[in-house]
Amino acid sequence: MDTEFWEARYRSRDRLFSGAPNGVLVTEAGDLPPGRALDVGCGEGADALWLARRGWHVTAVDISPTALRRAAAEATEVTGSVEWVRADLTTTPPPGGAFDLVSVHYFPLARQPGDAAPRQLLDAVAPGGTLLFVSHHPAGHSTREGFDPSDYYQPGDIAGLLDRDWTVVVDETRPRTASAPAGTHHTHDTVLRAQRPW
Ligand SMILES: C[S@@+](CC[C@H](N)C(=O)[O-])C[C@H]1O[C@@H](n2cnc3c(N)ncnc32)[C@H](O)[C@@H]1O
Repeated sequence: MDTEFWEARYRSRDRLFSGAPNGVLVTEAGDLPPGRALDVGCGEGADALWLARRGWHVTAVDISPTALRRAAAEATEVTGSVEWVRADLTTTPPPGGAFDLVSVHYFPLARQPGDAAPRQLLDAVAPGGTLLFVSHHPAGHSTREGFDPSDYYQPGDIAGLLDRDWTVVVDETRPRTASAPAGTHHTHDTVLRAQRPW
């Protein structure tokens, strides 16, 4: 799942995703005071826009230039609050300790020896800040050819990387609040919400 893969996916349609923020983000981040947020794999930007409209300063990162162009075009009224960044987060780590919220929704992070990339995402959370790591429940992938969810970090794997002084606020599987993305069969989300110690 490299740049070419995602560019081909985005270019295959005028819009790939619904344009609505993810339900888990709305549920879990609605009670957080606005600060600095990192949207990991921001896609067409609906989550970053929702955060910016609530007063967050957002760094929204994606590997796909097409997705970022679409996101920026939607963001005219919050231009100064969102920085759209084209980067491969498996090779370019985000700045350490910089974000009050690191939001990771449906980001396909392939397992790797040493777990460098997921650890860099954890390191990006500021003291007292929140990590929100959300995946489709693996059962929803069963019909998708060529994709094995066990090749990718799941929220439970990320929970296993947290130092003991983090507070796990949510670690569960729950039904989706919105219908599945077009062409998929996802019914449940797996959600990890954790707070870094001060
Ligand atoms: C399943 S989409 C989810 C998009 C968005 N978070 C959402 O929930 O609608 C995964 C996104 O991650 C991006 N992505 C995949 N691998 C990436 C990488 N190594 N670095 C940065 N972005 C990546 C893709 O371009 C795509 O936009």
